[in-house]
Amino acid sequence: MRLRILGSAAGGGVPQWNCACANCVAARSPDGRVRPRTQDGLALEVAPGAWFLIQCSPDVHAQIRAFPELAPREGRGTPIAGVVLGNGDLDHVLGLFSLRESTPLTIVATDSVRRALVDRNAMFRTLERFEGHTRWRTLVLGEPIELETSAGPTGITITPYPIPGKVPKHLEGTVTPSPEDNVGLWIRDARSLIVIATAAGGPGEWMNRLDGADAVLLDGTFWTSNELVRLGLGTARAEDMAHWPVCEAIAALASLRARKKVLTHVNNTNPILVEGGDERAAAHAAGWTVAEDGMEIVT
Ligand code: MLT
Ligand code: MN
Ligand code: ZN
Repeated sequence: MRLRILGSAAGGGVPQWNCACANCVAARSPDGRVRPRTQDGLALEVAPGAWFLIQCSPDVHAQIRAFPELAPREGRGTPIAGVVLGNGDLDHVLGLFSLRESTPLTIVATDSVRRALVDRNAMFRTLERFEGHTRWRTLVLGEPIELETSAGPTGITITPYPIPGKVPKHLEGTVTPSPEDNVGLWIRDARSLIVIATAAGGPGEWMNRLDGADAVLLDGTFWTSNELVRLGLGTARAEDMAHWPVCEAIAALASLRARKKVLTHVNNTNPILVEGGDERAAAHAAGWTVAEDGMEIVT
């Protein structure tokens, strides 16, 4: 399989518009110590020249522009066959509204993620402009679903498993949390397995399912629990935001044998962004690569 990292930053991107932390300052300077990154998004090639987006960030317009293989070839003939969502956080769904220009769109998501987008959300009606504009396919926990293009089935399945997470921030206190709120994606073809766990709030049963994966993409949001507090940029710990600190996660996953281990959805404050930095070196020593926009994983 071929997976392209369109965007490797957490919500807000790198640099973040309202942040003057050392990383964001470095990302605005030309010295290259911290590379700018767009928000979490992936593209999976499901058949020659056909792609599914995985997550749909507010940067999707620029991400499509930056990757010519996603450009339409004739008329409105986009090579994007659909979008898969792992949760309903705004950094994973806002880009859907940038794809509203009247091409039928397949969205693959759990029922709880679908409801978070559609229920009581007048804006979502912009993706229901005509019969068949949005076609939902439901991810059911533990059940494989085969991705399809207009040419038919692709031989690639996605199986969602619950990962500790949270309801989207704007729905906190208004909906009952569900294991379907945040899912990891186990993506298989005949030869290989890629696991996308880019929002992972902590350890759990899901870790037992990583054996045999060829590539694992893991939540790289924060290096430590108190990163925002220590920098004076916030009061929440990583765990409060359902992100497992990377320094703990890579220790817990020390025996993971995947050929490719990638940290992505990296927050602007995370020291692993600094080229030549100690934390980045520690992640590398543990076998993890820090994602960059445009990186590809081929299994
Ligand atoms: C997160 O990953 O914690 C969310 O993207 C936060 C948010 O939606 O603002
Ligand atoms: Mn996020
Ligand atoms: Zn910053």
